[in-house]
Amino acid sequence: MKKVYVKTYGCQMNVYDSQRMRDVLAPLGYAETAAPEDADLVILNTCHIREKAAEKVYSELGLIRRMKEAKGGNMIVAVAGCVAQAEGEEIVRRAPAVDLVFGPQTYHRLPQILAKAESTSRAVVETEFPAEDKFERLDAAKSPVRGVTAFLTVQEGCDKFCTFCVVPYTRGAEFSRPAAQVVAEAQRLAAQGVREVTLLGQNVNAYHGHEKGLAGLVAQLSRIVGIERIRYMTSHPRDMDDALIGAHAENHKLMPYLHLPVQAGSDRVLKAMNRGHTAAHYLRLIEKIRKARPGIALSGDFIVGFPGETEADFEATLALVTEVEYASAFSFRYSPRPGTPAAEAQNQVPEPEAMDRLYRLQALIHAQQTAFNARCVGQTLPVLIEKPGRDPGQMVGKSPYLQAVHLTGGSSLIGTIVRAHIDGVGRNSLSGHSHHVGH
Ligand code: SAH
Ligand code: SF4
Ligand code: F3S
Repeated sequence: MKKVYVKTYGCQMNVYDSQRMRDVLAPLGYAETAAPEDADLVILNTCHIREKAAEKVYSELGLIRRMKEAKGGNMIVAVAGCVAQAEGEEIVRRAPAVDLVFGPQTYHRLPQILAKAESTSRAVVETEFPAEDKFERLDAAKSPVRGVTAFLTVQEGCDKFCTFCVVPYTRGAEFSRPAAQVVAEAQRLAAQGVREVTLLGQNVNAYHGHEKGLAGLVAQLSRIVGIERIRYMTSHPRDMDDALIGAHAENHKLMPYLHLPVQAGSDRVLKAMNRGHTAAHYLRLIEKIRKARPGIALSGDFIVGFPGETEADFEATLALVTEVEYASAFSFRYSPRPGTPAAEAQNQVPEPEAMDRLYRLQALIHAQQTAFNARCVGQTLPVLIEKPGRDPGQMVGKSPYLQAVHLTGGSSLIGTIVRAHIDGVGRNSLSGHSHHVGH
């Protein structure tokens, strides 16, 4: 038996992709190990979204190089994911211990790529976008899933070209998997005990593999016996159509939680970002969504310190956040990425100013999140039980709003939905006790 060590960086799609790579490698005799120093094959599945994410990979490669030397060179070191796609050959120049670089659109060809790496002493770099259907060929290799929740990629790539973002370059053009393929995968997941699927896509609501779009796909998936909960991410405000908003009103398997990034509250900045929407457009959408599904929890992404952002622009972001009241949100300091238009801008915001804004935004978001969690105390929420908690006799699951909920109970509850009375709130989770059990 050979051993493979996989380390995953970045977004949920990379988590999904890493699992598909393990699936493809299993028939080649690769068992997974958690110890890179024991591995015959090390795969770093990387993220290029911000400079920090990309630099992490190079420091990890420094450690891996020493492990490879300690094994007399008997280790294949591979870099996959978005850094692989963006930097290609450059990775081998910077980190000569790397044997193999392959991009997200090549995973189904991993056996052939590995064979090539094994038969040559030169590094192999594969960053083509092959025409054949990656997903169809990855499907054949699916191994059993563990757990009651699963990610399911339905759409990949992006045609939006926000001026700060590398994704259209690393993941390529928008592609939607045919609905039938997605439904088959969801049925297989349900048969293996999965109760909640999160549909993934860089622009998941631009999904067009069903004639009625993502709303049509969700409707079809919600008819699968065993699938109790459906989520999707990440959405773009421009693709949030009435059908999808309507689905939130009608379909109670669709969880009342929506991650809808706006990035900024100033129209001037939104325009420079090439977002294709204004702040008012976003706020109108939020209003419609809340009307369709009262109590829906909202989440978003924000970038501060985008080139040319003034204090007044930033205050427009704070005002938007104040108006929306998020249940949670992510915020980042703008990171110039090679090859993107915004990186070339002359009016970059100085670091101390950008960091000051980031802290102010994060304080506001944190206060909103704390308030949202506090409002859950006293409510009865359906909790999908996922696994044992930290303490004996304790289980942990998720609320509809994606909060972790701790409650007393045994492992027979795993996979069931428990009605929990919420009586406590911690830093990142809720606690409660169950009323009665059922699906
Ligand atoms: N597919 C996702 C984007 C993934 S990146 C989507 O369209 O929402 C997740 C978040 O990272 C983005 O929403 C954005 O807020 C942030 N981000 C992207 N590029 C960035 C950059 N150059 N600097 C800082 N943050 C960035
Ligand atoms: Fe990046 Fe914009 Fe596409 Fe999202 S919509 S992946 S932020 S280019
Ligand atoms: Fe990162 Fe690529 Fe995902 S850049 S956020 S791993 S799509």
